[in-house]
Order: sequence, then structure tokens, then C-alpha cells
Amino acid sequence: MTLRTIDTGVVAAPMAGGPSTPDLVATVGEAGGFGFLAGGYLTTEQLAAQVAGVWDLSSCPFGVNLFVPDIANRYAVRPGGLAGADRAAAVTAYGQSLLDEAAAVGAQPGDPRPGDTDEWERKLDLVVRERVAAVSFTFGLPSAAVLGELRRAGIESVVTVTDLDEARAALDAGVDGLCVQGAEAGGHRGTLDPTAVPDGSDLVELVAQVRRLAAEARPDDVAILAAGGIATRERADAVRAAGADAVQVGTALLLTPEAGTGLAYRRALGGAAYDSTTVTRAFSGRLGRCLETDFVRRHDEEAPAAYPEVHHVTVPLRRASALAERPDLVALWAGTGWRSARPVPAATVVAGLSR
Ligand SMILES: Cc1cc2nc3c(=O)[nH]c(=O)nc-3n(C[C@H](O)[C@H](O)[C@H](O)COP(=O)(O)O)c2cc1C
Repeated sequence: MTLRTIDTGVVAAPMAGGPSTPDLVATVGEAGGFGFLAGGYLTTEQLAAQVAGVWDLSSCPFGVNLFVPDIANRYAVRPGGLAGADRAAAVTAYGQSLLDEAAAVGAQPGDPRPGDTDEWERKLDLVVRERVAAVSFTFGLPSAAVLGELRRAGIESVVTVTDLDEARAALDAGVDGLCVQGAEAGGHRGTLDPTAVPDGSDLVELVAQVRRLAAEARPDDVAILAAGGIATRERADAVRAAGADAVQVGTALLLTPEAGTGLAYRRALGGAAYDSTTVTRAFSGRLGRCLETDFVRRHDEEAPAAYPEVHHVTVPLRRASALAERPDLVALWAGTGWRSARPVPAATVVAGLSR
């Protein structure tokens, strides 16, 4: 099997922060889909345990997703983002602005750790050693050397892109596949430039453009996964007809019993307390789509474009709020199709979106 020939044409998106579990990935694989574990935020040991957990449950191929830290990002990032003392000051001010809300849940803003806080090299070694079927990357473009190492290990590489320029850069770098992420997507936007405000064009149109580009630039088989707001078979079929080999779905799986979605998060998605989604840097310093809460409305404008520092600053608030089973300060990541998410088995979601 390769990512171009997934039976159902359905991929379980990696969902860092808890929702992705070995059970979810194994179940989706057994149902004829293909699942990605989320390597982001885990320690290498935790990720290794999850990889072993999938092998225990299933012999189906699966993938791992890794966050590319800025130091390993080969994309030509636009100059002009926050840097040095300005960046540190903006992050500190942001932390100060959260003091009252943090105290209300018995927490304090976290320590703003800069740089690679995600064990990039160790996780790369792990996925090569474990020979998982595919590795997808988000937040950056890894070097040709990294992509070559994966290819030599027989591992398909995928880079998340959000517009044509990013797709071109990833194709030039030699990726085996692209995950084309549209504006509708839940969770972080995977822009290769952390300060970019991503393309808002319709996913179907973007997929068609990227498929044409891939055919011209790399007539060898480039796999295209497409992600963003996919919650119905009609939409999945339209995206595949535009040139995607498979649809990558996240939000549609959040309420399944196999997902590790926390209780407050589940209640928020399944209940009537929220009306809409919005895109904000308030939780991590990178743009991401989530349910529009009062916290997001209060802090959206002041949140600096400083990932991963802002992520570390808000982690204690989010954890304390989740532990108290209160959704107020939790990052309720959700795509535009969130109202269609159902508490049904993951295999049912795969069957409902399959080609
Ligand atoms: C809770 C959540 C966590 C996510 N975490 C990741 C991640 O770790 N890595 C990644 O590449 N994408 C991540 N995404 C984005 C997905 O890969 C995908 O682009 C998105 O879920 C598609 O939109 P949808 O949620 O509307 O289906 C996440 C999405 C959600 C909803």
C-alpha cells in the first residue's frame, strides 16, 4: 500500500494534544483507511510507546506526524517576524495578560520556552528505526537530506502545505506526498512560514491547482492528501474528484470512542454552548481554527506570533481547565464541519466518508 492507494481514500489526521491514540490509528487502518499518530508535544519515549501500541493492535500500515521546529525549517521564511528581545517582551506581556484567568483555574502561565522543544532529531531517529509506513510534517519543510533518509528507509514523506508557493517548494525538495490543508481545517494551520496568514481559498480549488502543479513539476507519483472541513461523503468525493488521493479528516473523528478527546472538549463539540469557529494565535502563537470562546475573543488580538513560546505559556491554563472539566480555557480545535461530528465508532466515520 502507498498513500495513493488507500482503499477507502480516508486518512485519520494526526491530532496532537490527546485526540490521536494508538486505538484510533489502528481502528482506522483496520477499517480500510490510514491513520497518523501525532508526534507533536509528546516526548520521544511517549511517541515510541504509541508506535508500539499500534503494532500491538494491528498489522495495518500507519504514519507518524512530526512538527518541524524553526531551526530545521528549510522554507524561505519572510523576514520581519518578531525576534530577539521584542519577541521575548511580547511573550512576557502576553503571559501577564493571562494572570487573572490562570488564577481562576488555580494555575499560572507557563515558562515561555523558545527553540526546539519537541525533540526533533530524536523523533526522526525513532520513526526511521521503527520503519513506519509514512511520516508527515507540519509547520515547516525539512531538508532534502531528511527526506532522502526517509526514502532510503522505505518511508513515504508528506509535507503539509497551504498554498501553491508552499506546494512548489515541497515538490522541489523531493517529498513523496503533500497534505494540502484548506482554510476550513480544524487545529493549527500548517503554514511553512510561522508568521504567514494563510491562503483562504476553497479547498477543492486549491487541490485542483496543486494537482496540476504536481503533474507538471513531478510527473512521478506524488500523493495528495487533502484536509479541511470534510464531514460529508459529498464533500469528500468533491475533494477526491479535484485530484486528492485521499481526504485527511480530524474534527469528524474527535467524538469517536477511540479518540482521546477530553471530556470538556467532547461536551463543547457536542453541545449548544458555541456558535462558530474562528482562527487565532491565542493558544500557541501559531494560527489555528477552534470554537470561538470568550477566552479567544479576549486574547486574539494581543497574542504574539511566537510559537512555541505562547504554547508553553498557555499550557498550564489549558490543562487546569480541562482537569476541572471546564471548556473555558481549553483549545477547542475544530474545523468548519464540527457540527457534523458524531459520537460513533471511528470505523463508521471512515465508512461514511469512503470513496
Ligand atoms: C484537535 C486537532 C489536532 C490537530 N493536530 C495536528 C497535528 O498534530 N499535526 C498536524 O499535521 N495536523 C494537526 N491537525 C490538523 C489536521 O491535520 C487536519 O489538517 C485537520 O484536522 C483537517 O480539518 P478538519 O479538522 O476540519 O477535518 C489537528 C487538528 C485537530 C482538529
